[in-house]
Amino acid sequence: MGSTMKLGTDPETNKDVNIPLNQVLPIVHPNDLVIGGWDISGMNMADAMDRAAVLEPTLKAQLKKEMSYMVPLPSIYYPDFIAANQEDRANNVLEGSKACMAHVDKIRSDIKDFKAKNGLDKVIVQWTANTERYADLIEGVNDTADNLLKAIETGHEEVSPSTVFAVACILEQVPFINGSPQNTFVPGAIELAERHDAFIGGDDFKSGQTKMKSALVDFMINAGIKLTSIASYNHLGNNDGKNLNSRKQFRSKEISKSNVVDDMVEANHVLYPEKGEKPDHCVVIKYMPAVGDNKRALDEYYAEIFMGGHQTISLFNVCEDSLLASPLIIDLVLIAELMTRVQWRSCSEDGAATTEYKGFHSVLSILSYMLKAPLTPPGTPVVNALAKQRSALTNIFRAFVGLEPESDMSLEHKLF
Ligand SMILES: NC(=O)c1ccc[n+]([C@@H]2O[C@H](COP(=O)([O-])OP(=O)(O)OC[C@H]3O[C@@H](n4cnc5c(N)ncnc54)[C@H](O)[C@@H]3O)[C@@H](O)[C@H]2O)c1
Repeated sequence: MGSTMKLGTDPETNKDVNIPLNQVLPIVHPNDLVIGGWDISGMNMADAMDRAAVLEPTLKAQLKKEMSYMVPLPSIYYPDFIAANQEDRANNVLEGSKACMAHVDKIRSDIKDFKAKNGLDKVIVQWTANTERYADLIEGVNDTADNLLKAIETGHEEVSPSTVFAVACILEQVPFINGSPQNTFVPGAIELAERHDAFIGGDDFKSGQTKMKSALVDFMINAGIKLTSIASYNHLGNNDGKNLNSRKQFRSKEISKSNVVDDMVEANHVLYPEKGEKPDHCVVIKYMPAVGDNKRALDEYYAEIFMGGHQTISLFNVCEDSLLASPLIIDLVLIAELMTRVQWRSCSEDGAATTEYKGFHSVLSILSYMLKAPLTPPGTPVVNALAKQRSALTNIFRAFVGLEPESDMSLEHKLF
């Protein structure tokens, strides 16, 4: 919400008029949010700030009193889904170590209680918990909505905690966004969301390395530079890094980071004429406790240019991991909430309605701009190119207030 978008051109000065993105439409102000949640660690938020070692001491001191009142609700913990090295913080867990309807019901009642206690209009839930391992996709277990519900009832071991949260939110018709890379939204969960007209969005916050990649690769390929390899290496020392140190959890992250260039490569059959041809792409993540939340990402982009020449671009990106992700967490909530208030219908050329009003598809692909491995409605293409994602977002906002899409032709400066 810190960005602006072009509204139009001032006819007198011929200059662009840009306004804050959050003023185009009636978007909830972040100050009006009430924040609560679940955690398998029962630590209050003041102590958790100290443990995370992200914020400056003076800022922490100012926030300490309010944060100390915030204590997470007990959560569901199925040890097999996150790294074994997380076990020592799991002191705030609901009974049971595999999926069950009692867990779904408890999450649903927590949501209802939170809403009533705080007098809220709406609740939006986001998974900002540890990266889980992938759940195996098994016919008869998580392939359809009915099978998934049955699998939860019978305690099938391939139903993850994040999927249990997703199912609870879908049944409560509360939007649920997955900020982590795992396959929370198994086909059965997507079908369940469609059935209940509930909104879901995912996967994995796009905060650092992938955001740079989805901008840079788009630029290079559109400029006719044939990228032949991308070597991406990261090290980080926070609890996310510790969890990702485990092979199965790292694999979830590796998958989410890997497909990010596919649509841009596929779109350019001049540079990549062979079917399935794409650059070599390797992602490495290492846990280095000493650097704490200060994630370091090193990327090498290697490309073929004119007359057999080569270009190498080397990037070193140092970022406060949590402080890049937190604004995305807020923006995802604000836009998901907005989407719950939007309805559309088709009209014929004379303006007569031809369909009834309805909402957007359950899978909110408009959120893709902020997510690393965008979830899209089944059978629809995934767009990773950052500029395209942003222009989808801003042009959809423009459509909501009756404006034409922004074409960027700037003819007012070219035709006299
Ligand atoms: N820049 C970023 O920070 C960033 C970017 C993209 C994605 N992510 C993803 O966001 C997630 C969170 O990242 P983080 O750095 O805050 O990690 P973190 O380890 O600091 O925090 C995760 C929290 O989730 C809790 N948890 C684990 N299992 C839970 C469960 N079943 N229910 C409730 N709580 C549970 C843990 O106790 C911990 O407090 C990770 O999956 C990470 O990969 C983070």
